[in-house]
Amino acid sequence: MLICNIVGARPNFMKIAPIVHELQRREMPQILVHTGQHYDANMSQVFFEELGLPKPDIYLGIGSDTHAKQTARIMTAFEDICQQHQPELVIVSGDVNSTLAAALVASKLLIPVAHVEAGLRSFDRTMPEEVNRVLTDHISDYLFTTEPDGDENLLKEGIDAQKIHRVGNCMVDTLLKHVDRAIHDAPWQNFNLTPHNYALLTLHRPSNVDERETFTALMATISSVAEHMPIVFPVHPRTHSRIAEWGIQTPKAIRLVEPLPYLTFLGLMARAKCVLTDSGGIQEETTALGIPCLTLRWNTERPITVTSGTNQLVGTDSKMIAESVNKIMNGTWKTGQRPPLWDGQASSRIVDIIASRN
Ligand code: UD1
Repeated sequence: MLICNIVGARPNFMKIAPIVHELQRREMPQILVHTGQHYDANMSQVFFEELGLPKPDIYLGIGSDTHAKQTARIMTAFEDICQQHQPELVIVSGDVNSTLAAALVASKLLIPVAHVEAGLRSFDRTMPEEVNRVLTDHISDYLFTTEPDGDENLLKEGIDAQKIHRVGNCMVDTLLKHVDRAIHDAPWQNFNLTPHNYALLTLHRPSNVDERETFTALMATISSVAEHMPIVFPVHPRTHSRIAEWGIQTPKAIRLVEPLPYLTFLGLMARAKCVLTDSGGIQEETTALGIPCLTLRWNTERPITVTSGTNQLVGTDSKMIAESVNKIMNGTWKTGQRPPLWDGQASSRIVDIIASRN
């Protein structure tokens, strides 16, 4: 049985890596296809190296474009790959355009699809990721969920319970495997910082960075957070373009840097005072690490990080952000708990299920 793993964008790499390794360990035949949705070395290649992922067997080189063009190009190229290699299972992860494109191709060719990180819902269809999540789930045959909300969302949408498997969180498998080394490397020293005395910031959601007024106001709010502690800000290419285009100025205490490698970012995150982000995955990683997280969005597809973890939704509200930072500074932030099955064994559970299929 040939298994075809798909990756395309940065958040896919840490979710697929532990599955690739588990399949390797059990000597199950597999190929790895990289769509090339993300192509800069610091958004892609460095993750392969650090996570010990094999070089992709096939690189589609799709690159950036409008949603329709990017999705369509992935589909056309991936259809050829499927016809040539005849995989018996296609594994996709997360919610990026590569996820949906590959799932759609496989489904039309009657190749079973496994979706890693199924069932998450923000209930906000203005997010391209939400459309990708819903559609991918409805054409998948194996829905691997990370938390009970995922199962509930899928059941409410009428998905057959037999297809749903709660396995835990593959991204946390990767995090637990690498966190000790990442801390040992002490990446904060590169920024002349000391543990628990700095914040980490990421911003790339179109809703936050694509509109000048919203982005400018948000950066002004974040600049006032920087009066309390220095902030390391690895800037995503989308955000970098906006900063350059609009000439946005930031105080010295905000250190703008290129997107960081996995281990550097993980080490910084593990010893941050707090993290401010609009990413999905970082909400989970901070909960796994027990680090306070302020999510710069009004909704989350990962509510367990708020109800059980260390995460709080603060949108772009300067008052809420200031109050939250105060709580973090005076040590009254919730401590949170790591959700069940976020234990480093999710990929092994996934491969057990795949291996036992008839
Ligand atoms: C994509 C995912 C998003 C995920 C994010 C993580 C979709 C719809 N969105 O958003 O869910 O959270 O990845 O990073 O799939 N660019 C580069 N170099 C690269 C890649 C992109 O410069 O290697 C620039 C291009 O100008 C591109 C822009 O970034 O137009 C956005 O890239 P794209 O892949 O379209 O979306 P992301 O914002 O990265």
